[in-house]
Amino acid sequence: MYQTQTFAIPELKGISKHAIEEHLKLYGGYVKFSNTILEKIKEYKQDAEKNTYALGELQRRFGFEFNGMRNHEYYFKSLENGAQALDTKSTLRKAIEKEFGSFDAWLADFTNIALTRGIGWAMMYYDRETMRLTHAWVDEHHIGQLDGLAPILALDMWEHAYMIDYVPADKKKYITAFFDNLNWSVIEENYLAARG
Ligand SMILES: [Fe+2]
Repeated sequence: MYQTQTFAIPELKGISKHAIEEHLKLYGGYVKFSNTILEKIKEYKQDAEKNTYALGELQRRFGFEFNGMRNHEYYFKSLENGAQALDTKSTLRKAIEKEFGSFDAWLADFTNIALTRGIGWAMMYYDRETMRLTHAWVDEHHIGQLDGLAPILALDMWEHAYMIDYVPADKKKYITAFFDNLNWSVIEENYLAARG
């Protein structure tokens, strides 16, 4: 059974308490339905022949619920305990500068990905095979997730993430607010853990 996690999110700048509260409820839904799918699969397997179609569809949707849960955990954890800048001498900062030229160039690249039309996630991963940072857009929660890469940073670009505070045309302001509140020490930890 997956457990709903709690997050120490302080009052944020540009993202309201109301938006976070509603968003956490949605996150809880992904945890709940990740468990529900697994329970239903177990139940339907007792007569797998009769339930072939239903089983296939449940298995097909598991990645949606599971990644919906995990993406949100990366997202909310990165907003815990107040904003912290990325240390200019940190290992992650150096990796970002090596890969993208400068921190500002990195931010521009990540922001462009976040502005992709549609609902989904802007992701930064660490690829253990190439030992490089990689950006990707993920549709919904799972379509486009990169096999075997460790998520370092996840920015929720579903409308529910910002529409309590911003109109769709202003979603760039939400991206700015996210970075104003981001605790980079969490991202640095994710990076160091991914590197092993
Ligand atoms: Fe979300």
